[in-house]
Amino acid sequence: TEQTFIMVKPDGVQRGLVGEIIARFEKRGYQLVAAKLVHASQEHLEKHYEDLKGKGFFAGLVKYMASGPVMAMVWQGKDVVKQGRVLLGATNPLQSAPGTIRGDFAIDVGRNICHGSDAVDSAKKEIALWFGEQTPTIAYQRSADSWIYE
Ligand code: GTP
Ligand code: MG
Repeated sequence: TEQTFIMVKPDGVQRGLVGEIIARFEKRGYQLVAAKLVHASQEHLEKHYEDLKGKGFFAGLVKYMASGPVMAMVWQGKDVVKQGRVLLGATNPLQSAPGTIRGDFAIDVGRNICHGSDAVDSAKKEIALWFGEQTPTIAYQRSADSWIYE
């Protein structure tokens, strides 16, 4: 099944939104298969955001992301990469619909509290970067699965 990398950014951790964000993925029916709180280095974050190198906000973004611990997670389930981003809402919280995480809890694009992989490919890269190349996830049978999937 599909996996995605979801991260609560330092502002989300500081604001006490880790549980709220986990709850939304859980309630939707997605399965948590890896999680850790990490204070990432600037170097690690530059790698994570390497596609954005050259953007005017890149230095500020890396500094913000290195300013405190983040909650790094792998979530699993049908269409989770795309649906994960739907749960997060638009990148700019001013454009995020109410009911989405950013639409409910954020205002500034530079403090948008969460990250989600934008494609199956980048999800694989990000999971390897944050959790290591070896399969980092915990495989387990969830008893609720037959109530979530037809
Ligand atoms: P992520 O899930 O965090 O990767 O967001 P995204 O995929 O919706 O957007 P993108 O990858 O293009 O940008 C990554 C992050 O950079 C965003 O989540 C913002 O935190 C930040 N960012 C993007 N655009 C801007 C901007 O115009 N100004 C500022 N200050 N930050 C930005
Ligand atoms: Mg992105």
